[in-house]
Amino acid sequence: MDKHFETEAIRIQTERSQFLEHSTPLYLTSSYVFEDAEDMRASFAEEKERNIYSRYSNPNTSEFIDKICKMEGAEAGFAFATGMSAVFSTFAALLNAGDHIVSSRSIFGTSHGLFTKFLPKWNITTSYFNSNDLDAIEKVIQPNTKILYAESPTNPAVDILDLQRLGDIAKKHNLWLVIDNCFATPYLQNPIQFGADLVIHSATKLIDGQGRVLGGITVGRADLMQEIYLFSRNTGPALSPFNAWVLSKSLETLAVRVDRHCENAEKVALFLETHDKVNVVKYPFLKSHPQYEIAKKQMKKGGNIVAFEVKGGIEAGRNFLNKIKMASLSANLGDTRTIVTHPASTTHSKLSETDRLEVGITDGLVRVSVGLENVEDIINDLKQALD
Ligand SMILES: Cc1ncc(COP(=O)(O)O)c(C=O)c1O
Repeated sequence: MDKHFETEAIRIQTERSQFLEHSTPLYLTSSYVFEDAEDMRASFAEEKERNIYSRYSNPNTSEFIDKICKMEGAEAGFAFATGMSAVFSTFAALLNAGDHIVSSRSIFGTSHGLFTKFLPKWNITTSYFNSNDLDAIEKVIQPNTKILYAESPTNPAVDILDLQRLGDIAKKHNLWLVIDNCFATPYLQNPIQFGADLVIHSATKLIDGQGRVLGGITVGRADLMQEIYLFSRNTGPALSPFNAWVLSKSLETLAVRVDRHCENAEKVALFLETHDKVNVVKYPFLKSHPQYEIAKKQMKKGGNIVAFEVKGGIEAGRNFLNKIKMASLSANLGDTRTIVTHPASTTHSKLSETDRLEVGITDGLVRVSVGLENVEDIINDLKQALD
């Protein structure tokens, strides 16, 4: 990065129009005009870099991509309508029938569904490893394995995977390392530093941070991004200019928002550790977290997600949710509003019980996406529900 993170987030901007606007305007246009027939031919032949049609590129999506590339230390990127379209398009663009993926088992439930239910339709198969046993990775790599995939911190159990080790394994076996960096944001962690070839975000979460729009992005190596770009240009999962404009604005405040999210989350985690109705609290920057040292090594701060186990199993977990007064019961995360969810019965309900338990999703597990309300009010709400 040439300037500091916060400065680039604010100062990277699309070129100003003749109106010399201070804030980037919204370019609500589906297509662009050409000077003449030769300009049109040269543009389509990609002899010049310019906007042709908003399914390919748009000034708002380009600004959003430029910012995330800078923040992640990536060469190129493409912005998608949702995080899942980023995940799907990345795999669909890079893999052929007969290829194989090695993935951490602790991934977002819908990504797991993509690997187990949909990619096999094109004869693309996946083997899983337990996120707490990276030694197991090499045992499941096959001659046709192309991608090593993981999230860290994981959703929803907030486990931490050692990104440097994943980078080393990927390099040794000539695999592309793809990391879903959604929980950390580009502010807290940059997987490319540790050897990732591609980084994916659901921008719907902390990047927007205000629960308004859906979005996704993949950034990384230019040669791989060219494949993903060509696939996406032809299949149409592009982010809308309006959502790109919102997300690009959101990035201007990412650092200050995430700093406060982390501060609040750490206080919530420390409170939960003291409550006698709580069994286990998982937060990456708590000394009690099993991968605390790795989290400290690869993350700037611990993020905004706290997972904990309410004593008394499924009934106690559901009872706790019913007693919450201020926090929202919602499927999203990374919002200004604190959100409480019960993964076993919602986001990860499609997993078999064995798969769920293997990734630490017990019946009583509660995931709190700690928001930006005053932390005393957040803690009071959790406390009265637990009491
Ligand atoms: C880690 C992770 N990756 C990807 C996604 C998918 O993102 P989206 O909902 O924007 O499609 C989510 C959504 O919750 C997520 O938590």
